[in-house]
Amino acid sequence: MCGIVGYIGNKDTQAILVDGLRKLEYRGYDSAGISVFTSKGLQVVKALGRMNNLEAKLEEHPLVGNAGIGHTRWATHGKPSDVNSHPHTDATSKFSVVHNGIIENYLELKDELIASGVVFVSETDTEVIAHLVAREYNGDIVKAVQKAVTFMRGAFALGVLTEYEPNKLVAVRQASPLVIGVGKGENFIGSDIPAILKYTRDVYILEDGEMAVLTEDAVELMTIEGNFISREIFHVDWDAVTAEKGGFDHFMLKEIHEQPKAYRDTMLGRINEDGKGVHFTDLNLTKEQIKNIRNIQIVACGTAYHAGLVGRNIIESLAKIPVETDVASEYRYRSPIIAKDTLVIVVSQSGETADTLAALREAQANGAHVIAVTNVVGSSIARDANDVIATLAGPEIAVASTKAYTSQLIAFYLLGLYMAEIRETKTTEEIAHILAAMDSLPEQVEQVLTQAPIIKEYAEHIAQHKHLFFIGRGVDYAVVQEGSLKLKEISYIHSEAYAAGELKHGTLALIEEGIPVIALATQEDVLEKTLSNIKEVKARGAEVMVVSYEERREELMKSVDKVLSIPRTLPLLTPALSVVVLQLLAYYASLALEHDVDKPRNLAKSVTVE
Ligand code: F6R
Repeated sequence: MCGIVGYIGNKDTQAILVDGLRKLEYRGYDSAGISVFTSKGLQVVKALGRMNNLEAKLEEHPLVGNAGIGHTRWATHGKPSDVNSHPHTDATSKFSVVHNGIIENYLELKDELIASGVVFVSETDTEVIAHLVAREYNGDIVKAVQKAVTFMRGAFALGVLTEYEPNKLVAVRQASPLVIGVGKGENFIGSDIPAILKYTRDVYILEDGEMAVLTEDAVELMTIEGNFISREIFHVDWDAVTAEKGGFDHFMLKEIHEQPKAYRDTMLGRINEDGKGVHFTDLNLTKEQIKNIRNIQIVACGTAYHAGLVGRNIIESLAKIPVETDVASEYRYRSPIIAKDTLVIVVSQSGETADTLAALREAQANGAHVIAVTNVVGSSIARDANDVIATLAGPEIAVASTKAYTSQLIAFYLLGLYMAEIRETKTTEEIAHILAAMDSLPEQVEQVLTQAPIIKEYAEHIAQHKHLFFIGRGVDYAVVQEGSLKLKEISYIHSEAYAAGELKHGTLALIEEGIPVIALATQEDVLEKTLSNIKEVKARGAEVMVVSYEERREELMKSVDKVLSIPRTLPLLTPALSVVVLQLLAYYASLALEHDVDKPRNLAKSVTVE
């Protein structure tokens, strides 16, 4: 996830772009850059690191002109560096492009362009676009962009400028957000409304497959095929703070709602075109090494550790490799046994967690190959690991992790399937079947999100309690551990998560009249056993809420007090849906108790001390 902004008009272009990028920094901040059409032609200034670095460079080399595009980056293809920063240009520097998204087939396109003599300077997928537009240019930038886009697969929001037509700014949207701001004698583009809100409240929200051609005085909207579109202007009446949260009350709620996109983005470019397999183009771990893996150790902290618990279920069930999951702060001190064919996977949203980094180093010191599953490509953990699987959730602002956790699950599904194919533990048909079910997950998350009002009502009820329990079996047990942590960290309600079958070995003593017990019962093979455990707590006066499938509601309501449902999916995939119910539950409980949802007490987003 990156941020893009663009301006055409007579005001201070540089200042408007910089201001817009500052508003977009939440979408990525490992590098930034702008390109402005100046009296000397198209000029680009870009810098690694935060916006301050770019601003310092611009102070030395200000860019003055009437049209420009800018970008703040969250690295996906190619590490954060000056050269990988946007805008990217073609070989003649006559075309300049900013891009948010992923070009799935960029390697193919890159090879083709190299074969025709194009020299690439960066490692990004975006540079391909600049060269394609230049190749297709024949005196009409709109047509060149339209043609270039026909070669591209994936997700992209683009801003394109050319020196040949300095009075035009072209914008395209395909599965990455883009808005067009309409002013008087000036027009704007932005990844979201806050980027341009200071200058205009009148916007067009582009849909997928649409583009816009901006001049100072006009905005033309059309489909990528070139059919003109007429659309009502959307007048934004949000205040600036609400706008930054995309109209949501909190970043956490916004990030919960961003999960369908995070799922899609994390899958994008990793599933074979025929839907029958998975590929990781950038993995150093060879197929031979994967065949030889004897055991896997997954190491992480907090929510990332909980993703690792689900990851263990996924890899064991798909690739049939024994997996242990460890809390990073404990891992080093238990003298883990790392054999020749042990693979270590560290999981970290921030990529900066000190305990996880120390565990990574311990594992490497003992000869392990370490894969980092992380959301920050340029982070310390990503830099040190032997391999990186990037989760493409985009920056997470709320302290309580939501979309990063679920993207980590998606990464584990993909990795599990990749290993299963290589180790031949699943047939092609089985893999295709799972991938097809994964394809439906984003839409199914949307369905879960529509239940927010019912979840809110239940959350307001549990907010009156001081203690509660979560129970589940199998993969549900892994998910309730995350549900319990989420609730604790933002609502401050004490909760504990138990393997449903374990309660009777001690904890049942704590069950008393009226205590809420939240049960996950999505695993049909152990449903009867979970129901027996539910009966055990019911008999002691607990009030039970179950998360299961809608078609089980009637039957479940005979034994419990409330049912919240998730859409039907494969048993192994349920965590990607059920956890969303628990995230919303924690969010609304915190809201009911009037806590600071995004910044819970005593916690920090990135924990860089051991
Ligand atoms: C909880 C949460 C933390 C983090 C943990 C690890 O919502 O966010 O438990 O998961 O501090 O952080 P990362 O994933 O950045 O290594």
